[in-house]
Amino acid sequence: MALYSIGDTHLSLGSDKPMDVFGGGWEGYVEKLSEGFAQVEPEDMVVLCGDISWGMSLEQAAPDFAFLDALPGKKLLLKGNHDYWWTTAAKMKRFFDERGFTTLDILHNNCHLYGETALCGTRGWFYEEEQDGHNEKVFNRELIRLEASLKAAGEREKLCFLHYPPRYQGYRCDEIIALLERYGVKACYYGHLHGGSHRLAVEGRQGSVEYHLVSADYLRFRPQRIWED
Ligand SMILES: [Fe+2]
Ligand SMILES: [Fe+2]
Repeated sequence: MALYSIGDTHLSLGSDKPMDVFGGGWEGYVEKLSEGFAQVEPEDMVVLCGDISWGMSLEQAAPDFAFLDALPGKKLLLKGNHDYWWTTAAKMKRFFDERGFTTLDILHNNCHLYGETALCGTRGWFYEEEQDGHNEKVFNRELIRLEASLKAAGEREKLCFLHYPPRYQGYRCDEIIALLERYGVKACYYGHLHGGSHRLAVEGRQGSVEYHLVSADYLRFRPQRIWED
């Protein structure tokens, strides 16, 4: 039994936004993801840290879900800023059921237990969100979601998965960091950063929490192993 994480798969099998056009590491990224998942066993868990599919609806994202479902391991999905197909947890779960996507589940306003470890998380907040003026409502909703997820974990060991980095060179989201520390989160995994932004990522321990960037191009499309029994 092992736990993995990877973010930003940016799949486009049912829409027309393949990432290969960016060249470099993204060329052949769908095949690279398949190869990267070869290390995962069926009983393992992979947390997907947002920006999962370019699909604009569940229907359009379905080929991407089918691709992910066929990969080994259970996958826990959380929302990124590009996941326009995202809807209510009930609707997403019903859609997965109807299509027979048996390895996909949603991390949204809850926590998910894997062994004795609580997997918590939400989309998070990043300064780019402030471009249209600070949206207090959206920001507060993210804080409420994160706290609900951390509370649901009780006294268990907690890992937190976010799409947006809570820390970045020259940026820190104090409210999110305070929640991670207050609830004793051991490590936080995040995505969203691509290409040249990788070098500005915060890696390693800061305060009481360890931070790790897991965006797919940073990991060369190979899920990061967090622990194994
Ligand atoms: Fe992304
Ligand atoms: Fe993103």
